[in-house]
Amino acid sequence: MADEGFTHPRLAAFYDIQEGQRDDLDPYVAVAADLQAATVVDIGCGTGVLALMLTAQGIHVIAVDPALASLDIAKAKPGADTVRWIHGDARDLPPLQADLAVMTGNVAQAITDPADWAATLAHTHAALRPGGTLMFETRIPARKAWLDWNREQTHQVLDGTETWVDLLDVDGPLVTFRWTTVFPDGERLTSTSTLRFREREQLEADLTAQGFTVTDVRDAPDRPGREFVFLATKSA
Ligand SMILES: C[S@@+](CC[C@H](N)C(=O)[O-])C[C@H]1O[C@@H](n2cnc3c(N)ncnc32)[C@H](O)[C@@H]1O
Repeated sequence: MADEGFTHPRLAAFYDIQEGQRDDLDPYVAVAADLQAATVVDIGCGTGVLALMLTAQGIHVIAVDPALASLDIAKAKPGADTVRWIHGDARDLPPLQADLAVMTGNVAQAITDPADWAATLAHTHAALRPGGTLMFETRIPARKAWLDWNREQTHQVLDGTETWVDLLDVDGPLVTFRWTTVFPDGERLTSTSTLRFREREQLEADLTAQGFTVTDVRDAPDRPGREFVFLATKSA
C-alpha cells in the first residue's frame, strides 16, 4: 500500500519539487531507446515523470500506481492523455505484449511484502512479450543508506516548504522512516514509509522463480555504488 507521501494530495503535489532534476530516469530512457521499445509498462509510476518522457518519444506507455493523488498529478500534466493510466498495481495490468517494464524511484523497495513482490514480478512477466525486459533499481543493503536518514543530513527548504526525514526503525531488511513536511502556511504533514532492502542473490532468485533471466546488474550512474540496477528478460 502506498504511503501518505504519495496518497495525500498536498504531499503528492510536492513530490516533483522535492525530487528536482530527474537524472535517475536517464538510464531508463536510454534502455527504452536501445531496445527500440514500442510499448513500456511503468509500474509505480507516481506523478508520471518517466511515463511522460517516454510518451513524448512516441512510445505507448501503460502506467500503474496505487496512489490516486499521484496519478491525479500525472494526469494533469501536458501530454498525459497519450498515456494509459491505471489505478492499482501490477496485478491490475491488462493483457499486454510490452517490450519493457520499469520500476523507477526504488518502487521495488516499497513492495515490502514477499507475496506482493512475487505477484508484482509474476504479473509484470505476464505483461511482457517473450524476450521483453524488466528494469528496476533497488538500494544496495551494504551501503546502509538509512544511516543518513536523519534530520541533520536531510533538512532542506524548497519553495518555502521545509522537509526532513527521521529514521524510526531498522528491523533486519525492513527500514521505517518518517518524512515531515511543513508548508509555508504552517500546515505540517508526515508520511511514514517502510522499505525492504533486498540482497542481490535474493533478487536474482526472486526473478528466476518468476521466469526471468537476469541479464545485467548495473550501477546507477547518478548514484555510483549505491544501487543495483537490474535488467532481466522474460524467457521465451
Ligand atoms: C518513490 S515513488 C516513485 C515514483 C516514480 N516511479 C518515480 O520514479 O518518480 C514510489 C511509488 O511506488 C508506488 N507503490 C507503492 N506500492 C506499490 C505497489 N505495490 N505496486 C506499484 N507501485 C507501488 C507508490 O504509490 C509511489 O508512487
